[in-house]
Amino acid sequence: MTDDRRSAVITGAASGIGLATARRLAADGWALACVDTNAAALEQLVGELNENGRQAVAVNGDVSDRGVNERSCRAAVELAPLGAWVGVAGIAADYELTTVPESDVRRLIDINQLGMLWGAIEALRVWQSTGAAGTIVVTSSVHARHAAAGSGIYEMTKASIEALIRNIAITYGAQGIRAVAVAPGAISTPALQASFGTAVNPDAARRHLERQAPLNRLGETTEIAAAIAFLISSAASYISGITLTVDGAMSSVLMLPATDPEALRPPVDTHG
Ligand SMILES: NC(=O)c1ccc[n+]([C@@H]2O[C@H](COP(=O)([O-])OP(=O)(O)OC[C@H]3O[C@@H](n4cnc5c(N)ncnc54)[C@H](O)[C@@H]3O)[C@@H](O)[C@H]2O)c1
Repeated sequence: MTDDRRSAVITGAASGIGLATARRLAADGWALACVDTNAAALEQLVGELNENGRQAVAVNGDVSDRGVNERSCRAAVELAPLGAWVGVAGIAADYELTTVPESDVRRLIDINQLGMLWGAIEALRVWQSTGAAGTIVVTSSVHARHAAAGSGIYEMTKASIEALIRNIAITYGAQGIRAVAVAPGAISTPALQASFGTAVNPDAARRHLERQAPLNRLGETTEIAAAIAFLISSAASYISGITLTVDGAMSSVLMLPATDPEALRPPVDTHG
């Protein structure tokens, strides 16, 4: 281990965006405490990373449990000084607001919102005790700033963590601590693929979502991992308090170019 090696906590590391990010950060030289509720997939990841000469430990647990966050930061610090805390673990579900079960609302808030808060607090405690600096990244969503029918609870949880990182950035910035959010668009992950399966025609559901992004495709998990790797690197040393949207321009859309030839309007010729 080199003297400048640092560790990171990554939650939700066993699948999708978290899995791609764990692989990317490990390849970049971070020693990792990988957190997830899926013990089997987590062990597989950690085994794979260690076999490839990386340094990683598994922390099996639920991020809504404060003790799990304390345990994961401690596990990271045992590997190397903590340089980053990356919250990816989250769940998504759509509801009609007037009938949503209270237990489901509380579960979404516990994982998506409080899971990020408890983890960020533990990382801040580590850095306060050592006087060191580090970076907090939370995984938000384009849903934090844009609305889709049925996604109200999910959107509330994601908007709240963007508020959290803004506040951490301004409160702890003087110590060199940075806080940022990443807002993915539609990314091809097991969770998203499973959601297509609930449509009458899963292929149609997938094509519909692909067309929402001007890049005309779903994003790859490695594309979010690359953004997170950048944000916790020294290349991003003056970036804090913001949300980096990685969505193939999905959230820039007011109106897409017409596909119906009869709806095309020629641009106005102002040159006579
Ligand atoms: N896939 C997308 O299109 C998309 C878009 C925007 C934001 N996101 C966000 O990205 C994150 C990852 O999503 P994904 O699509 O990769 O999901 P995924 O289901 O493929 O992976 C999520 C991982 O988190 C773990 N996890 C879930 N709840 C947990 C808990 N309470 N404690 C610990 N681990 C837990 C799961 O076991 C799983 O391994 C989520 O926060 C999600 O809201 C995803």
